[in-house]
Amino acid sequence: MRNQLSEETVQPIAERWLAAREWAEHLLSQMTPAEKIGQLNQVSVDVASPELIGRVEAGLIGSIINVVDPEQIARLRKAAVASRLGIPLLFGRDIVHGFEIMGPIPLGLAATWNPELLRVFCALTAKAASMRGLNWTFAPMVDLSRDPRWGRIAEGFGEDPFLSASLARASVQGFQEDLDHVLLACPKHFVGYGASESGIDYNRTHFSDQDLFNLYLPAFEAAFNAGALTVMPSFSEINGQPGVSNQRMLRQILRERLGYTGLIVSDWAALAELTIHGVAEDGAQAAQLGLEAGVHIDMMSGLYETHLVDRSALDTSVMKLIDPLVLDVLTLKHAAGLLDAENNRGSLAGGGKREQQNKEALLTVATQLAEESCILLKNHGQILPWRYIDGSLAIIGPLANQSAEQIGTWSFDADLSQCETPLQAFEAHWGGSVTFCAGLDYSRARDAGGIEDAVKLAASSDKTLLVLGEEAVLSGEAHCRSELDLPGDQTKLLKAVAKAARSLVVVVMAGRPLQLTEILGDVDALLFCFHPGSQSGPAIRNILVGDTNPSGRLPVSFPRSVGQIPIYYRRGSTGRPPVGDEVQFIDDIPVGAKQYSTGNTAYHLDVEPSPLFPFGYGKSYSEFRYQNLSAEVIGLGDDLVVWVQVEIQNVSQRAGRETIQLYMRDPVARVARPVRELVAYKKIELQAGETKGIEFTLGLADLSYHDGAERFVEPGLFQFYVGGDSEASLSVEIRLTPEQLASSGL
Ligand code: BGC
Repeated sequence: MRNQLSEETVQPIAERWLAAREWAEHLLSQMTPAEKIGQLNQVSVDVASPELIGRVEAGLIGSIINVVDPEQIARLRKAAVASRLGIPLLFGRDIVHGFEIMGPIPLGLAATWNPELLRVFCALTAKAASMRGLNWTFAPMVDLSRDPRWGRIAEGFGEDPFLSASLARASVQGFQEDLDHVLLACPKHFVGYGASESGIDYNRTHFSDQDLFNLYLPAFEAAFNAGALTVMPSFSEINGQPGVSNQRMLRQILRERLGYTGLIVSDWAALAELTIHGVAEDGAQAAQLGLEAGVHIDMMSGLYETHLVDRSALDTSVMKLIDPLVLDVLTLKHAAGLLDAENNRGSLAGGGKREQQNKEALLTVATQLAEESCILLKNHGQILPWRYIDGSLAIIGPLANQSAEQIGTWSFDADLSQCETPLQAFEAHWGGSVTFCAGLDYSRARDAGGIEDAVKLAASSDKTLLVLGEEAVLSGEAHCRSELDLPGDQTKLLKAVAKAARSLVVVVMAGRPLQLTEILGDVDALLFCFHPGSQSGPAIRNILVGDTNPSGRLPVSFPRSVGQIPIYYRRGSTGRPPVGDEVQFIDDIPVGAKQYSTGNTAYHLDVEPSPLFPFGYGKSYSEFRYQNLSAEVIGLGDDLVVWVQVEIQNVSQRAGRETIQLYMRDPVARVARPVRELVAYKKIELQAGETKGIEFTLGLADLSYHDGAERFVEPGLFQFYVGGDSEASLSVEIRLTPEQLASSGL
């Protein structure tokens, strides 16, 4: 199977689209220009002021972002119903990795490699938010990124198009699966926003059509196929044209090529920024560019409202552009059930008991997600799990007890009273004494004497747990870094504590991959967590004491040094890959060496040519062995499938979860293909000693690639690698003949 989710999705909203269209057409014919443009106008507020109520009653606003108080929402909803045509409002909010109960940040959700659990979490989150009256989230963020300096890498699903697509699909299915509690999904930011140069947010992006089709589009396509009916363009210039006015991307690629029929909502004031980018002279031209690109909803620039009402009354060509957009907005509102009684009762329909039950379910799923998102990177001498959970435990570090730092970026609505820190979790469940010393007050802090106290505590304790990393505010939108080390004096703290501690375990929590090279040698055990959410403490404790066997896997490669960025597993071979003794490092080059004497291969002179930890990597307390890999080609043309089988055995004494990853290489093609591509994965549970046979079935689409907009699958050799990470060595190959492919549509 391709992944753990069925690709056949239930799309209740899409099914209602046609019927909704009729209603929308009828309504459109009754609307004034101001009312039409009102539907395209989105404002941000947190209270329903009398002025705002008046504007809603006059039909001048179609959607609202950022109001979350259920009573305010109810008042605004009432005002919309009281307007001349009674058109309901869309209420949007960035509900990115939870609402009040937070799961791990999306990069952590990706580290679970568990789309089914993500779907369940999104469905429960949708219910929680919709019981408060919200009906639209600006998520999932599906921007693939290969640059950990970019703060928004925290919000995406990592570096791989296949993994990202499977999680994008699961998110949309979850958010939209229950029409009584729908939270419309909005995959963003179309497209290639993660390619921001130098990892600086909003920076220009430049990429080829090969990257567009092979890397950046698959997750969007998956989200649309799962039923997403809104999308947000990128802030950035894409090959010179900002996302919101990029007609090639929004019309040719999104609509014509992908067949997308839903709505486009601008990013925050993105239309107003067109003058700053330098592609519009003034607001009027910016509004026109948005219309021409087919942007339905103007989030927070007010330019449609300011510039289009008068023009549309005078100029029929403007109204011709506006009408289809309004029609789509109305259709979506009807199809999404905004006129249905249940949704119209909104928050007040929630009721205490239902909300409480939902919260309990969310806490359970958030704990499981948090546990599955933590990645055990090192466990020298198997010091974990801790065998004895009594004696004295020292808990040290700036992230051990700060609730807000556990949950990470985009956590506006998080209920911090529901968040349990590692310190709280150990205090609640530890057989001996637990003593805390922050050492440093926050992640960027410089030593003010705390390190000495921490060292004393570690020296006098049986065990030490050090919780380090990045505060939540160091990642997310516009929070980019040029260095990836532990901020402040944390490395100093770690090195001092490592010398003093009898038994040390380090947890690093961050919004991005960090450069761990400098500290790796000082620690025996290292658990890495992308901010794990409300249940951070219990999840970390359960793993360290062995109640839970770690199963998180990296959704992104960890660099040895910042200078290696971008470093990713799906790289090209080059004509001169670095091998063995051809690699000579800076300190080994003899003085006076001649130009060619170091060998000419593709590597940096001052760092090993590999990541510190590869994509897909993560340890378990169990040990797994792969064997008997085979591959077979069955059928012809479009019906051709490649059937890959492997046996996996848990050769340890503990039950555990393994993520079996299938990588492919097409070694000879009309354009050079990556050395490996993830084409399937499956997360399974194996009891101690148990062996299971696993099958993957790949279709022709899985073997294909895009050269520009065209898709190819070519005869010849295909190599497959199966294992627990992207450096898996067990391999098998197949050969496709021209006859086998002759009748295929590709
Ligand atoms: C972000 C979007 C977000 C929007 C609304 C923007 O700054 O780029 O991702 O959905 O704000 O909050």
